[in-house]
Amino acid sequence: MKRVVIAGVSGAIGGALATRLIDRDAQTRVIGLCRDPEKAPEVLRAHGRSTVLPWDAEDSASPAAVAEALESLLAREEGIDGFIYAAGLLHGPDMFPEKRLEDLDSQSMARAFAVNATGFGLLTQALLPRLRHREFKRVVAISAKVGSITDNGFGGWYAYRSSKAALNMLVRNLSIELPRRCKPIACVSLHPGTTESALSEPFSQSLAKLKVHTPEETASNLLDVIDGLEEDDNGRFLSWDGSELPW
Ligand SMILES: NC(=O)c1ccc[n+]([C@@H]2O[C@H](COP(=O)([O-])OP(=O)(O)OC[C@H]3O[C@@H](n4cnc5c(N)ncnc54)[C@H](OP(=O)(O)O)[C@@H]3O)[C@@H](O)[C@H]2O)c1
Repeated sequence: MKRVVIAGVSGAIGGALATRLIDRDAQTRVIGLCRDPEKAPEVLRAHGRSTVLPWDAEDSASPAAVAEALESLLAREEGIDGFIYAAGLLHGPDMFPEKRLEDLDSQSMARAFAVNATGFGLLTQALLPRLRHREFKRVVAISAKVGSITDNGFGGWYAYRSSKAALNMLVRNLSIELPRRCKPIACVSLHPGTTESALSEPFSQSLAKLKVHTPEETASNLLDVIDGLEEDDNGRFLSWDGSELPW
């Protein structure tokens, strides 16, 4: 991938993906997006081949502002060949994963859908003109296994689970529309595996029995899968080790 947009570069996984892409290939240019560009890793803010733009998934005007900023960063005919959506929200000051129905809260549901699902759809919409070229493109949503409807045997985490299921549906819809408009392309959902981050931190004790990866390990695992994507992979839900996950 030579020109990649990554949403959520202030996060553990998004930041590690962007850093690895910049480090490994002197031809790669990264455009990182996050709410506060000052929170992006120093290497991305200082690097000649990366730019960090402000973007907030809860601000509906934000995707258009990103598209406009791209006008001055890229030549008119210059496309992008990678878009990775690594923003996500599980908890916050007034938000915690629900344990039971009584915990359901409209604000938390709305925020989870805005960040975990809608943001991906609206950014893809804003980037569409940059995806209409003849090289192979990868559009990747960092999803979560707990967004699998088939795999849900525990319940709980209503806002997070249902917003990730919605993200997965956006991927399936786009995997039908994008090849008609931007061929050749693969649009996939990827489960990153449990990873040390602010998002997983409150659950670190209960995660102790699981294999927890560092963000750098996760970036390496995910890039192995992303690098290996072909047109035939369009519309798949894959785990960090390349195995198939049920929708
Ligand atoms: N860590 C895990 O174990 C794990 C497991 C399964 C799936 N995932 C998924 O992996 C992705 C990355 O998560 P992570 O572990 O790297 O978490 P993280 O370090 O907490 O990063 C989350 C990212 O989402 C951004 N974000 C939150 N609200 C936003 C908003 N309103 N607008 C724009 N960006 C917003 C954060 O930006 P700010 O810095 O501005 O807050 C940050 O860049 C998420 O989609 C998550 O669901 C993670």
